[in-house]
Amino acid sequence: MSHTPTPFPDGFLWGASTAAHQIEGNNVNSDWWRKEHDPAAAIEEPSLDACDSYHRWEQDMDLLAQLGFTDYRFSVEWARMEPVPGTFSRAEIAHYRRMVEGALARGLRPMVTLHHFTVPRWFEDLGGWTADGAADLFARYVEHCAPIIANGVRHVCTINEPNMIAVMAGAAKAGDQGFPPAGLPTPDEETTHAVIAAHLAAVKAVRAIDPAIQVGWTIANQVYQALPGAEDVTAAYRHPREDIFIEAARDDDWIGVQSYTRTKIGADGPIPAPQDAERTLTQWEFYPEAVGHALRHTADVIGSDVPLIVTENGIATADDTRRIDYYEGALEAVAAALDDGLNIAGYLAWSALDNYEWGSYRPTFGLIAVDPVTFARTAKPSAAWLGALGRTRELPRAAGGNA
Ligand code: BGC
Repeated sequence: MSHTPTPFPDGFLWGASTAAHQIEGNNVNSDWWRKEHDPAAAIEEPSLDACDSYHRWEQDMDLLAQLGFTDYRFSVEWARMEPVPGTFSRAEIAHYRRMVEGALARGLRPMVTLHHFTVPRWFEDLGGWTADGAADLFARYVEHCAPIIANGVRHVCTINEPNMIAVMAGAAKAGDQGFPPAGLPTPDEETTHAVIAAHLAAVKAVRAIDPAIQVGWTIANQVYQALPGAEDVTAAYRHPREDIFIEAARDDDWIGVQSYTRTKIGADGPIPAPQDAERTLTQWEFYPEAVGHALRHTADVIGSDVPLIVTENGIATADDTRRIDYYEGALEAVAAALDDGLNIAGYLAWSALDNYEWGSYRPTFGLIAVDPVTFARTAKPSAAWLGALGRTRELPRAAGGNA
């Protein structure tokens, strides 16, 4: 394979992503912390100190900037900012504002996610997203994020993977508390409508804070591929798990595309990858081309007016050479989609750090390793490889080939 580089479009975002609960540590007021310590939930291990990024965010940002990245997506934690309903912590708001300023000072443009899977315990106790007034409660929290995002933050994500939230709600009703497998169980319809309402309320609140902020949300894309004859079944399977959330973003300023693998669909639903398929530490099929399909599908549903940003893409593996192979394949697919005229505004890898993968530290998605005892950070070769592309501002591209 030869590699003719494709230049990044002007202003292209080049970075890595994280989420507060997965890296900060001691997010004790959140629903996930409670779940991690509930024997009935049968969570493999609790998050505890995570990567201690609550205290070590400067090291994380130093490393990312040194590696060549120009963008950093991180989330702010509702459970910290509003530990009891209606009472907001000035200290926590100041903490996250320092992170925004710290990113800017290092030449990293911050993309701020307002909600990444965790809610305050009190919000869960009220009934969560489907409770009366949930969208208003979320919007009130978003309004209180004004001091964090009002100056210097260009991209804000309201809710990360609303489709996974609906799927997790569906799975919980069926008695399964964990993080759902690829392919995805049936989403809870009431939750779907509730998170869409919360998103629309949050978009309004963000625009009222500063109309210059580009606001959107990020969708988990499973890259459903129809076996011959199963096109209609696949479309019907995909709509409640994916398209309904993409359609809800038509008036947004951008949409986040998050993909890791693919799921084949036959006449009776998902078909597992063959026994001999290469699998990652999450047991997902190694399929770097996924992101190209995810981008193209999202563009088909949303149209060309809304820019696409890859806000998560990566692989859980202990073999960092395979991580580089994955990113190389993925970026060739991104470059091919750009060559075909797709409106792609950025690429953020998942994840900056080896972190808490919703129940376990085993699946290592990180570009940077974290020692669980000393919290020392060590950039992996994949981090240097990916970061270097940020300096050249060029994406690898397989000669002559589309994804
Ligand atoms: C989530 C991340 C998660 C990653 C890998 C996405 O579903 O946004 O929080 O760690 O995928 O599973």
